[in-house]
Amino acid sequence: MKELKIESSIRFFEDYSSFNAEEVALFKSCKNAVNQAYAPYSRFRVGAAVLLEDGSMYEGNNQENAAYPSGLCAERVALFYASAIKPNVAVKAIAVTIDYSNNPDFDDIISPCGGCRQVIAEYEHKFNQAISIYLLGKEEKVCLIDSMKVLLPFYFSGDILKAFTEKES
Ligand code: THU
Repeated sequence: MKELKIESSIRFFEDYSSFNAEEVALFKSCKNAVNQAYAPYSRFRVGAAVLLEDGSMYEGNNQENAAYPSGLCAERVALFYASAIKPNVAVKAIAVTIDYSNNPDFDDIISPCGGCRQVIAEYEHKFNQAISIYLLGKEEKVCLIDSMKVLLPFYFSGDILKAFTEKES
């Protein structure tokens, strides 16, 4: 028998004092992104901002559709947008938040859905580099996860497919 032990660490901060100017700029960009969300069906507005290695930032937000499954989460909109514009620049970080103004009693931090975790893992794998994930709560609350491997250990990676595609050619 073999055992794989998985250790994870998720850090919670009460304000922005531990973060540098680039990180704070990413948080502002993320909070701005939430305002353009298109969420007429769920009324759950989500914003995301992606920071690339070259310092550029790309915003995304959830885009819903009357045919519900056709919509897309904020994280994937931001990542696909960044990747469409700069396919060869590694992703350094992603920040995610929601519109707290709609529901004053709600103050939980939200965490990416399974599909978005898989997509974030794909870009870590593509550039062989961890992506910092900042989950922004109310006011200046921040939850920091150092890599998608923390939230999605033992994930399905493209390496597995290689074994099949290389066999065929
Ligand atoms: N949503 C996101 O944009 N990101 C997440 O991580 C969770 C869910 C969106 C999808 C849908 O538009 C709405 O939130 C409710 O699920």
